[in-house]
Amino acid sequence: MVSYSSIAILAAKKAGLLLRKKLGQKRKVTYKGAINLVTEMDLVSEKVIVSTLRRYYPNHSILAEEKEARQEISPFRWIIDPLDGTTNYAHSFPIFCVSIALEKGKEVILGVVYDPMRDELFLAEKGKGAHLNGKKIHVSSTPKLSQTLLATGFPYDLRESLVNNFDHFQNFALRVHAVRRCGSAALDLCYVAAGRFDGFWEMKLGPWDLAAGSLMVREAGGKVTNFSGENLGLDGQHVLASNGKIHREMIDLLKLGRI
Ligand code: IPD
Ligand code: CA
Ligand code: CA
Repeated sequence: MVSYSSIAILAAKKAGLLLRKKLGQKRKVTYKGAINLVTEMDLVSEKVIVSTLRRYYPNHSILAEEKEARQEISPFRWIIDPLDGTTNYAHSFPIFCVSIALEKGKEVILGVVYDPMRDELFLAEKGKGAHLNGKKIHVSSTPKLSQTLLATGFPYDLRESLVNNFDHFQNFALRVHAVRRCGSAALDLCYVAAGRFDGFWEMKLGPWDLAAGSLMVREAGGKVTNFSGENLGLDGQHVLASNGKIHREMIDLLKLGRI
């Protein structure tokens, strides 16, 4: 029997390589909100992934960001972000990925994130660790917030909402080596898992943004919670991920801003 991970990797690579091939071409862009873009490639990628998964697992449920929500009587559910980093992609900025997670019951047991531009395949399996292109990865060991490189992102409703992360961004930027805003939450989480970032926080994320990446961080020895340090499920939108060592300091700083 083929494993869930090999099929998820097959789907992620198929879609990712197609995204890479089409990068830089003129895009048809529609809007889900004032600055929330969708390109036709989000939809093409979703179709490629869903049809691959459905061929092998016709009875599994599916939650995909753009169109696909299929509820079956099955403990298994695939959670898919077919293109994480759409704004980057629409501007031909080459930081984006495909994110696929598998949930069994209410627990995420598998996460696959593929960055086709760097050919980096991140894989996390519950209880088996996190890997990048077959090699085990670990979170960083940076002990103090003042010595860290962090990542964040800003919500699509930042023009209308005061819960826009600007306050937190300023609080962190003044206290750490630097804060990056790369534009792909799933990759940000994988970079925490790989020790490239020491921590990451973001508000108003969807389950497809964080399902695979959160397992990646946990399996790499890190911590993922809400902004108060409590357990985070897939519908917890405010995500705090770190190497564990700086988690308390991050929670304390997040308390200074608006949640
Ligand atoms: C977005 C990216 C971005 C983050 C946004 C997400 P999308 O996902 O992950 O980094 O800041 O909050 O919604 O729309 O490109 O799939
Ligand atoms: Ca996303
Ligand atoms: Ca997306």
